[in-house]
Amino acid sequence: MGGGRKDSQNNIIIKNINNDFVLTNKKLPTRRGVIWLGQTCNLNCYFCYFKERIEDKSHPEHPFFTLTKAKEICKIFVDDYGLNSIDIQGGEPTIYPHIFELIEYCNKIGLKPTLITNLISLANVNHAKKFKDAGIYDFLVSLQGVGETYDKVVGKNGAFNKQMQALENLANLEIPIRVNAVLSNEIINDLEKITQIALDYNARAVNFIGYNNTGDQKMLRDKYKIPYYDIIAQKLEPLIDKLESNHIEVNLRFLPFCVVNEKYRKNIQNSTQMLYDNHEWESSSRLWIDRPNQRRAKEDIEKRRTIYYLSRFKLHKIYRGNLREKFIWFAKFIKPFITFSPKYAPIPAYQKPILEKMRFYTPDTYFRSGFSKIEHFYFEQKEVLEQLNKSKIHHQKCQSCDIKEICDGFACDFIDEFGSNAIKPIKIANGKQSNPRFYLKDQLKVIEKEEWEWFFSKDEISRIK
Ligand SMILES: C[S@@+](CC[C@H](N)C(=O)[O-])C[C@H]1O[C@@H](n2cnc3c(N)ncnc32)[C@H](O)[C@@H]1O
Repeated sequence: MGGGRKDSQNNIIIKNINNDFVLTNKKLPTRRGVIWLGQTCNLNCYFCYFKERIEDKSHPEHPFFTLTKAKEICKIFVDDYGLNSIDIQGGEPTIYPHIFELIEYCNKIGLKPTLITNLISLANVNHAKKFKDAGIYDFLVSLQGVGETYDKVVGKNGAFNKQMQALENLANLEIPIRVNAVLSNEIINDLEKITQIALDYNARAVNFIGYNNTGDQKMLRDKYKIPYYDIIAQKLEPLIDKLESNHIEVNLRFLPFCVVNEKYRKNIQNSTQMLYDNHEWESSSRLWIDRPNQRRAKEDIEKRRTIYYLSRFKLHKIYRGNLREKFIWFAKFIKPFITFSPKYAPIPAYQKPILEKMRFYTPDTYFRSGFSKIEHFYFEQKEVLEQLNKSKIHHQKCQSCDIKEICDGFACDFIDEFGSNAIKPIKIANGKQSNPRFYLKDQLKVIEKEEWEWFFSKDEISRIK
């Protein structure tokens, strides 16, 4: 197994872009959390993870949280998980009645706030200005198409014009933006225009996101709505070049590695790569925030119980799986007690609060040398969730692929609809790869100046200034 930290991070590139952020190939686990304030929204995107919960006003996840509950969650992120930045979303966070107080509170307790938003309520410049005054750090704007295509996808006439007005307002207010674009069938012919909008408004990063069949889309996704991966890849590759030559970070989320040419595999972000993206969500806090109590306005917040939750998944498999699954999971479950303890890489100071409640945790994934206990926990958690979720599969053809270990595979319904022609097993000269950063080490990512002190060594910081 070609695991280990082959990317020993000796050749660290740091490019100072505008004194507010650098682009670097150095990768550390993220310190960002996420909060869903409730599934109340001013749009109705057909592909949304929460489409049913947004339409059904009686759904327990529909109403917005009280400010007290939102603040409590944020405080737990800081105290229990050592997080220092947060994505606030919903639903639509810009219409949350207490949004300005929440942004102010996040800044006060040391969480740099981002809003993931459709932005349309910020077409009103006075409303937009209040976000600046409250101390918003940046907006992650969802661009789901252009003109009438956008209005159709999000289910509201005139929405695109409002979004463009809002972008203009943010440019005037000098609030940074990043971009999300879900790769729906409708968007494919608008990708050049979306790229141009990102360039015109100085986006720092653009995330092209594979249309996922999770959440409410497990039931709602129609097969004819799934775009073919090869077509997406052909469109995206020249756009990645264009964006990167303008110093914009590009991520291709949830797409299998083999659908793009080798040069662009550094941009592919599957579940294990996203652990090293400072604009993605820290994994143990994600386990906690994903629990129903932390998603519903009326429920009390649960205490953190990260590893017990993971154990429950394991036990679930032992009790409910077929005989073979039972055996495999039992063997995995008892393995930590019968094997010697391997030497894990040290963890950085900022991860100490996470380890606090994981002292007795022993990973049961195979040991990857050079990675910390927490990173092993992250890998194991992803494996368990993948088994339970089953929205993605490794097809028979994937078995001969040398990077299967670090790739999430293909969406099940994609294979049902199109067969396995899009799968092209990858061969690596050194054999199989289990290092999640195998390709990622060559990608340059945004690290904002507020992060430099914990992210870079003193020597590295002296190279920036
Ligand atoms: C659920 S929305 C909520 C925040 C806000 N209302 C917005 O539109 O950005 C957050 C992000 O999830 C993405 N998203 C929603 N459904 C998705 C799906 N089925 N697959 C991939 N991304 C999805 C959206 O593009 C958006 O950027």
